Amino acid sequence: MLTNERRQVGRAVPRIEGPLKATGRAAYAAEHSEPGLLHGAAVPATIARGRILEIDSRAAKAAFPGIVAIYTHENRPDAAWLDRSWQDDTAPPGHTYRPLQNDRVLFDGQPVAFVVADSFENARDAAALITVTYDRDVPETDLSAKLAERYEPPKKRSGISPPPEPRGKPEQAFDEAHVTISADYFIENEHHNPMELFATTVLYGEDGSLTVYDKTQGSQNAQKFVCNVFSLKQDKVTVINAYVGGAFGSGLRPRHQLFLAVMASLDLKRSVRFEMSRRDMFYLSYRPAMHQTVSLAADAEGRLTAVMHDTVQATSRYEDYQEVVVNWSGLAYRCDNVKLTYGLAKLDAATPGDMRAPGAASGLFALESAMDELSYAAGLDPLELRRRNFVHFDQNENKQLTSKALRACYREGAARFGWERRKPAPRAMREGHELIGWGMATGIWEAQLQSAKARVRLSANGQVIVQAAASDIGTGTYTILAQIAAEALDVPVEEVSVQIGQSDLPETSVEGGSWTAASSGSAVDAACLAIRQRLLDLAQKDKASPLKEATVEEVVIRGGHLRLDVDPKASVAISELMARAGETAIEEEGEVGPDAKQMKKFASYTHSACFVEVRVDEELGLVRVTRVVSAVAAGRILNPKTARSQILGGVVMGLGMSLHEESMIDHRSGRIMNHNLAEYHVPAHADIHDIDVHFVQEFDDKASPIGVKGLGEIGICGVAAAVANAIFHATGIRIRHLPITIDKIL
Ligand code: MOS
Repeated sequence: MLTNERRQVGRAVPRIEGPLKATGRAAYAAEHSEPGLLHGAAVPATIARGRILEIDSRAAKAAFPGIVAIYTHENRPDAAWLDRSWQDDTAPPGHTYRPLQNDRVLFDGQPVAFVVADSFENARDAAALITVTYDRDVPETDLSAKLAERYEPPKKRSGISPPPEPRGKPEQAFDEAHVTISADYFIENEHHNPMELFATTVLYGEDGSLTVYDKTQGSQNAQKFVCNVFSLKQDKVTVINAYVGGAFGSGLRPRHQLFLAVMASLDLKRSVRFEMSRRDMFYLSYRPAMHQTVSLAADAEGRLTAVMHDTVQATSRYEDYQEVVVNWSGLAYRCDNVKLTYGLAKLDAATPGDMRAPGAASGLFALESAMDELSYAAGLDPLELRRRNFVHFDQNENKQLTSKALRACYREGAARFGWERRKPAPRAMREGHELIGWGMATGIWEAQLQSAKARVRLSANGQVIVQAAASDIGTGTYTILAQIAAEALDVPVEEVSVQIGQSDLPETSVEGGSWTAASSGSAVDAACLAIRQRLLDLAQKDKASPLKEATVEEVVIRGGHLRLDVDPKASVAISELMARAGETAIEEEGEVGPDAKQMKKFASYTHSACFVEVRVDEELGLVRVTRVVSAVAAGRILNPKTARSQILGGVVMGLGMSLHEESMIDHRSGRIMNHNLAEYHVPAHADIHDIDVHFVQEFDDKASPIGVKGLGEIGICGVAAAVANAIFHATGIRIRHLPITIDKIL
């Protein structure tokens, strides 16, 4: 074991790239440039469904001599993919939308023309002068009007488990139960608004090669997209996403800025940048509207005897976008009679996308609100009801769990919050003109290991380079990879240089699903193990080596030496080993991926308990979330500082989901009315009060070799229900429709 001062993993190391970001030296996708760079701007459709009859760009051309090209469906270059059905790693089943393919308009804001000019301003202003006439169809954008047209997804989306088969006799158990509740829950579209806009800068090389700076969660997924769509050889295209200004799912799929920028660059043989506007972002990337029904039944002791959860979720006309929404209800609590059903309904909108804890954030809102309703019906404390229904295995798949420290989350979270002082009846707590409510909910998310490789290079002088095509969407990947290598090779974190976010680095999945720390972290650890093995092999070439009998498990690297863990004197200098081998550095690769054998037996989840205090001004309908305690069990915590930030961010996004965020769609036109940050509300500083993040002890080497489960999503899971439950406790008003705005409270 390392002494505490020498441990790097588990330390609150500040982000190693933080100074670059704070001083503006970390360049994002739209911040790369070169002389002569061209700029693109899209013309968004002003209808949600129909056909383009005519595009008139005469006024734009007359006013802006700086225009280099205007692309429409009538003159766009024949991009190779227009004849193919190739899909990227993250696409749902269906026919991927292809910009400028034909005269069809499939959603509000769809780009119908793309202007390329000598400056950003000229491109944008010229785009505004282009007029389009349409043949309009009547759009259907209201999910509640389409519930009867629900359908089963014809093909499963990769990585998404369909609901399990029903078990037991849920309907009968419900009819015969001591206590039941059944209710409908609604969620409106919620939109991604990361700080960084979707942007691509394509630098066109003299030999026709492309260096593509793209806002993406996966440089290699974007590279494969460009190569397949435009029939380019892999070695001609490098995609770089070294710094990403937030994403949380929005950057999983290649977006049309990538397609249009590359298309124009290849056609013009020039470098091109296309950065979307904030308005453009709203058309593309959102958590879908849902209608859910949850029915719960319990016996006299509050033990669940039936769980039924049904969801109809919005998707587009052209893709069957799916999330895991209802499955959580079959594994969160012990119950032998369960029926989970999930359908889609097609709307005239862009395909929805993964947004932080896709499916779980939505499904748990319904389940955990319903559990709260059941607690009142059964006359039980909401936390006590959940404790009575604790389950220690995955009943959906009949698998053991790699670990589940949820009881500790309940216990430690409740203690920090002061839950035992809660008065059970609604409207029982008040201070001045405000009603006070305390609510809670359980959170669950999957812990996954994805394919990841990493390369580590250790120099004789102690410098370390870590390389992988992993991404850091602001989550702290740079820092935790540096910590893992620093600890394994016993060098200061400052000696580790982390190179990630580039498609020609060792192969790594997209950054998503909370799997990057576990996957890329384990790959780095494996590479460091391989370095130790190489050094040991070198040492053992010497017959007189004190390490002659040692195995790799018995040796450690300490202070530039390879030595026996139990005997500091049995030690050889690494520089000496390298000198003997005639090398100045040693480089090794590590690789991890899902373990099929283990996955047959075990399921792995992160867990949380979220406790919320609200204060509601009854006359004004104002809700303030004054306290949140989020107690999280997510395996080993690599860095308490970046880990805490993940949970803080998740809770804040959860508060946005609870109280603020929704797109307002005029269903007569099918158009989004509030596509800007003035009218689409996200939590501001004044909305955020005390958030207490607490990690309970958990180490899980079945979840990943380094014991990590992942943190990106769990912070948002359960938050919306905890807020709704707290509002009920404060006011006695049950609101089943997100976001909970003033009009719903008054
Ligand atoms: Mo996450 S929604 O898989 O970035």
